[in-house]
Amino acid sequence: MSSPIPASVLAPPPVTSVTELLAAPKTHVTVRGLSKSFAGAPLYTGFHLDLPRGKIVSIFGPNGCGKSTLMNMIAGLVPPDAGEILFDGKSLKDTQIGYVFQNYRDALFPWITAWDNIAYPLKRQGMKPAAVKARVDELVALFEIRFDLRRYPYELSGGQMQTVCIMRSLATRPEVLFLDEPFSALDFEMTLFIRAKLQEAHMATGTTMVIVSHDLEDAVFLADRILLLTRRPTRIAEIVPFELPRPRKPEDTADPEFVRVKAHTLEVFRREVNA
Ligand SMILES: Nc1ncnc2c1ncn2[C@@H]1O[C@H](COP(=O)(O)OP(=O)(O)O)[C@@H](O)[C@H]1O
Ligand SMILES: [Mg+2]
Repeated sequence: MSSPIPASVLAPPPVTSVTELLAAPKTHVTVRGLSKSFAGAPLYTGFHLDLPRGKIVSIFGPNGCGKSTLMNMIAGLVPPDAGEILFDGKSLKDTQIGYVFQNYRDALFPWITAWDNIAYPLKRQGMKPAAVKARVDELVALFEIRFDLRRYPYELSGGQMQTVCIMRSLATRPEVLFLDEPFSALDFEMTLFIRAKLQEAHMATGTTMVIVSHDLEDAVFLADRILLLTRRPTRIAEIVPFELPRPRKPEDTADPEFVRVKAHTLEVFRREVNA
């Protein structure tokens, strides 16, 4: 089912029937002619990418190849030198996005409670208190929160802090959610928990998600597509589809399809690192 998609596009195969047409993922984010240099050294030149709607795309590649920079350019946190990025044909300013930072310790406001951190983007949008409460309650139910959200960030465990960051990022119902290494500072148990919660949130909302990961297992586990990048100057090495049905369970890491996709991804990665 999942032979490699040729580099440069995440487009679906040619449509031959109405059923396929209905099932084909539509492009959500279009990246065209993206260029970025740091201190005169090109990182990206004329880079193209299509991200499919409602899918989870993992970005994986060698250290320093520009995973975070690519995501940050798409999310509007780093200005590209050239190129165009459109969300359903709209610009970023007309698009609701969410972002989960790599370092959750610095990402939460320390002077307000976990609850107020989650509510913050809603209040900022001018939402009325009753609606804010209703939305936070929904997120509490979705994430099955058992700890006290009246606590301050410093009173929470790392996993709890990251959970609060993800709840905050989803509060405004973003069209696209960006996550930079969301598991990198978590222990294994918390990684399993956050993975499961992200997958549940994705299944419940259909939010397009982009996840940067340096861990191969994390990159594959949640992904519909694994975007493999080369060393810099950075190109797409390959886009690997992973179509194991959801919800995926921790034991699915032993599923032959998971093992096959992970091995293939590793092979491409090795080839790129040694290129
Ligand atoms: N603000 C910056 N100034 C100078 N160089 C940068 C800056 N941000 C990133 N880089 C360089 O660009 C390359 C890609 O960085 P990054 O996107 O963080 O890589 P990755 O996330 O894949 O590890 C690295 O060589 C890094 O040193
Ligand atoms: Mg990075």
